[in-house]
Amino acid sequence: MKLFCVFCILFFGLILVNCDLSDKPEACKTPEQWQGSFYSYDSIKQIRIIGNISYDAVNKRERIFQLFILPQKNQSYDMLYLYNQKSLQVNNLVKKSCSKISLTRPWTDFGILPNSKFFGSNYLGSNKLDESGLKIQTWKDEFDDSDGNRVFHVSTWTFKNCLPVFDNYITKGSSLHTMYMDITPGIKDESVFESSEVCDETKMD
Ligand SMILES: *[C@@H]1O[C@H](CO)[C@@H](O)[C@H](O)[C@H]1NC(C)=O
Ligand SMILES: *[C@@H]1O[C@H](CO)[C@@H](O)[C@H](O)[C@H]1NC(C)=O
Repeated sequence: MKLFCVFCILFFGLILVNCDLSDKPEACKTPEQWQGSFYSYDSIKQIRIIGNISYDAVNKRERIFQLFILPQKNQSYDMLYLYNQKSLQVNNLVKKSCSKISLTRPWTDFGILPNSKFFGSNYLGSNKLDESGLKIQTWKDEFDDSDGNRVFHVSTWTFKNCLPVFDNYITKGSSLHTMYMDITPGIKDESVFESSEVCDETKMD
C-alpha cells in the first residue's frame, strides 16, 4: 500500500514524500506443515465452499476436504494429493465414488507467490485494545493463467509466522475470496495422508 510518510530533512525543510513505508520487505515463508480450515466464496460463480486442509511440503502432499454449498445440491469432495507418487485421489462424498488420477503438475510450495509486491501491513481489529488485533501483511501479484486470462491476486498473511489469512483470486468469470482459520502447526496425525478409499484408476467425471 502506498502510504504517505514525512521526511524531515534538515537542509531542505519538511518534504512530504509518497513512499513505501516498508522498505520492500522480503516475502515471508509459510510453515512447511500445518492444518487448518477455510471458507471460500466466489461472488461471480455464486459458490460457497467450507473446507479444511492438511499441508505437508516436506513430503509434498495435501489432503483437502471441501463442501460446495450450491443452490440445488451440495457437493462434497475429499482430495488426496500425493506429489511424490504423482497421484491424486478424488473422493466424491455425495456420489460415494472415488477416482485415482495421475498428478502431472509439479509441487509448488504454498505461500506468497514469487514476484509478489508488498502491499502494506495493518492490524485486523485493533492494536489499541487487549487481544483484539492481528498484525497482518498483504502482498499482490498479477499474471496470466494457463488460459491466457489476466489474474489479479491479493493475499494476506499473519505478520508473525506467515500464516494465510485471506486470499483474493480474481480473473475472467471468477472472483474467489478465501479466509483461513484455526491453523495448527505440524500434522497431528500422519494417517490423514493415507487413502481410506479403494479408488479405481479410471478418469474422474
Ligand atoms: C476435515 O473435514 C472433514 C469433513 O468434515 C472431517 O472429517 C475431518 O476430520 C477434518 N479434518 C481436519 C484435519 O480437520
Ligand atoms: C448444503 O449445506 C448447507 C451447510 O451444511 C446446508 O445448510 C444446506 O441445507 C445444504 N443444502 C442442500 C441442498 O443440501
